[in-house]
Amino acid sequence: MADPRTILGAVGNPGCGKSTLLRTASQRFRRVIIWDVKGEYSGPIVTLDDLPKTFKKKAFRVRYRPGHGALPHECDALLYVVRHLATDVVIVLDEIFLVCPNRREGEVGMLLRYARERRIGLLWATQLPTHLPSVLLAVTKTLHVFHLHATGSLQVLRQWLSPEQLETVKALPPHESLTINLGG
Ligand SMILES: Nc1ncnc2c1ncn2[C@@H]1O[C@H](COP(=O)(O)OP(=O)(O)O)[C@@H](O)[C@H]1O
Ligand SMILES: [Mg+2]
Repeated sequence: MADPRTILGAVGNPGCGKSTLLRTASQRFRRVIIWDVKGEYSGPIVTLDDLPKTFKKKAFRVRYRPGHGALPHECDALLYVVRHLATDVVIVLDEIFLVCPNRREGEVGMLLRYARERRIGLLWATQLPTHLPSVLLAVTKTLHVFHLHATGSLQVLRQWLSPEQLETVKALPPHESLTINLGG
């Protein structure tokens, strides 16, 4: 099984295939927790109270379904528990713009600062790259770029993509992506 210490991101317009890519990428790992904001993943649903027991298992693939409060705060609570109790785990954080509005890093930032030593990985996706906290982009190793055309989104990507690659991104058909190695 793959080393959990991986940080992979996907950006692109809705419907391009980001969640599908995260789902596939997450299958390489044996201990996975999914922040399933839209209820589109599979696996048993856990609450925060279940997590200490879950983390004792050798292998698991569980989902956390928010719905108890403001999304950024609820996600912070989940990530806080993960950061304190878990090692060797990969977190799938889909629709990350909902928990990091306006580049707020919150517990995502804290988690990333401890990620290496606690063997924690993160697979994330967003349709709004303009909202990404800079700490996240600083540690992301591989970025999958699906179709985007909003000026602000392309502006963010100009840091890593050549003008030719930006043109490619604007013309990408659904379900196709450019893979960029950010080095993380
Ligand atoms: N590589 C692919 N080939 C064919 N269909 C795909 C592929 N990736 C995604 N899809 C389909 O496209 C739709 C949107 O994919 P999804 O991963 O939910 O996109 P996003 O998360 O970017 O909104 C889904 O119905 C999914 O099954
Ligand atoms: Mg999605």
